[in-house]
Amino acid sequence: MKVVGTQKSQIIAGRIAERLNADLAATKFSQFPDGELYVQTGPIDDETIIVGSLVDSDTLVQLLLLIDACEQSRITLVLPYMGYARQDKRFKDGEPISARAIAQSLGFGIDRIITAHVHEPSILGYFGVPATNVSLIPEIKSYIASVGYDNPLILAPDEGAEGFAADIAREGAWEYDYLIKTRLDGEHVRMEPKKLHVESRTVLIVDDIISTGGTLAMATELLRDQGALAVHTVCVHGIFASGAYTLLKNSGIGDVAASDTIETGYSRYSAAEPLTKAIKEC
Ligand code: R5P
Repeated sequence: MKVVGTQKSQIIAGRIAERLNADLAATKFSQFPDGELYVQTGPIDDETIIVGSLVDSDTLVQLLLLIDACEQSRITLVLPYMGYARQDKRFKDGEPISARAIAQSLGFGIDRIITAHVHEPSILGYFGVPATNVSLIPEIKSYIASVGYDNPLILAPDEGAEGFAADIAREGAWEYDYLIKTRLDGEHVRMEPKKLHVESRTVLIVDDIISTGGTLAMATELLRDQGALAVHTVCVHGIFASGAYTLLKNSGIGDVAASDTIETGYSRYSAAEPLTKAIKEC
């Protein structure tokens, strides 16, 4: 068995290879003068684990090329983060179901797919191969416990993420709630917990994805105004698009933690163990 990582997922690919006691295949990534991408892997075996978070268009092309390069092998595709999964419906006329388009193109040529906290698990059916979506809730719980927050209030940023917050809170026997957003006028919104009060509490906002950081920055400022002692966040996939680092820093947020599904300066805990377990079990 060989593990092959895309250019931007070398660290998590290495962590998975280590746990599988498998070699990382040598890889070469470059670009032709016209902008087309080039990949080359070293020798592979009968079984290949391709690891690559789908964070941008170049990664999509690298994944397609790697799948083709390993065609003689049984391929498990591990997408620690699957981009495009949020466009899982046709919200407006003329739009694609992007999650379907991406899954169908990647599903051709692989034998199974493994993701972690994919935004909408039902889209895994579009890959057309056996699929596993792993949970990082035990890792999140261990991370929170290791920091030692004092009786944190676990908050989801919206009702849709309430179940996620509830699962994390249950692991640590903490309280949880979700935020309700009310538009006061054209310029002002209010965000407050549905049931609980944040005054003098340490609040931990949990979400599957931080993208622009806009949701989190707004929630932090409003919760601090309501008397929260501190506001921290733990997410699974930290994209930190455009000016997210600065926006979050200026919002008064405390700790920001994400997993290593996308490797950034905020990667504080690893998805490698549950992904490896899924590889071994499938
Ligand atoms: C939304 O469905 C996700 O769970 C996140 O809440 C969202 O992606 C966060 O986006 P942003 O960081 O851009 O506010």
